Amino acid sequence: MPDIRFNEAAYSALADESVLDCLLRHEQSIPHACKSGVCQACLVKAVDNDAPEQAKKALKPTLQAQGYALACQWVPDADTNVSLPSLNECSVAVRIRSIEPLNHRVVRVRLDVVDDNSMFEYFPGQYLTLSNAHGISRSYSIANNFAEDGCIELHVQKMPQGQFTEWLFSAAKPGDVLHVRGPAGDCFYTNAEQEDFPILLAGTGTGLAPLYGILHEALRQGHRGSIQLFHGGFTARDLYCVNELRELSMQYPQFRYHPSSLHAAEEGHGAVETGALDEVILRHLEPATLASTRVYLCGAPDLVHQLRKKIFLKGAKSSNIYCDPFIERRVAAAA
Ligand SMILES: Cc1cc2nc3c(=O)[nH]c(=O)nc-3n(C[C@H](O)[C@H](O)[C@H](O)COP(=O)(O)OP(=O)(O)OC[C@H]3O[C@@H](n4cnc5c(N)ncnc54)[C@H](O)[C@@H]3O)c2cc1C
Ligand code: FES
Repeated sequence: MPDIRFNEAAYSALADESVLDCLLRHEQSIPHACKSGVCQACLVKAVDNDAPEQAKKALKPTLQAQGYALACQWVPDADTNVSLPSLNECSVAVRIRSIEPLNHRVVRVRLDVVDDNSMFEYFPGQYLTLSNAHGISRSYSIANNFAEDGCIELHVQKMPQGQFTEWLFSAAKPGDVLHVRGPAGDCFYTNAEQEDFPILLAGTGTGLAPLYGILHEALRQGHRGSIQLFHGGFTARDLYCVNELRELSMQYPQFRYHPSSLHAAEEGHGAVETGALDEVILRHLEPATLASTRVYLCGAPDLVHQLRKKIFLKGAKSSNIYCDPFIERRVAAAA
């Protein structure tokens, strides 16, 4: 079995075991979250050896060229030597500007970049991976355009017993410094040819964060095609930015907003459709234009995969469907 050298010690890997799982099994502290090659929290540097393509392919070419790889995607077939990048090596320091409630369990977090010179480019809808001072790393989608607002905006939902969100909701405060890695993801608006294709945006919970970023970017760039946003919640209390999105739909005739909840909304929430998100979307689908519609689906992984299948079967082109499943941390026995 190959040995993995890390912090001047050698750890024997099991057959088909990733570098990450091996080091976690040996109780080494390695940042990680999704274990799926998505969040990039488990970035390591290959020392005096090269990582396999599988462990590098999700990374930017500049990171690949410097020998970085994802430990969760690296199954070594020979002895391997890895080190952890220092905080400043591949991440940017950001400072919490504000944390404001958006509903009973979602907050809007605004972040400033500590050093303006280290600001990076991103498209609204992509995601960043944040690490706090306790070494916990999680990914969050970007809900705004930095050039417009001068800060990075995230929408974060509290998870019961969630390591990162418990910290964010109970201990984090303006002024705290975090480190972000990224951006990554291909859920964003581009329209170099200025075409007027229809856009369908759908998600539940904080799946709204990337959709909100994409919507504002499309409107900012003067998108002329129809834009439909479907936001679902378990109850109407789980929705957020409802009034703002309703006002936006009055301001922009091409934009239609469809808030919905699984359970009938109590009084005081305005018009909220009742039903599962997929049923609500199917009620409003326009089959005649679906082949040219660009579809963005974000949030809970099961829902995203289910919607993708249904909308594809109704006539959307697979190449026009962009998905951002919020893959949760995989808790393995060794983790
Ligand atoms: C690409 C990407 C983008 C994301 N964007 C956002 C975003 O914009 N806003 C946002 O709020 N979250 C987003 N997430 C999810 C986020 O990264 C964390 O998984 C989430 O905040 C929970 O972290 P935690 O440390 O609090 O919980 P953990 O300690 O990781 O988990 C605690 C418990 O909650 C469960 N759990 C974790 N996440 C979920 C979930 N989504 N649904 C159901 N159960 C869950 C876990 O299985 C575990 O049992 C995104 C994830 C990915 C991969
Ligand atoms: S990419 Fe490896 S843990 Fe997320």
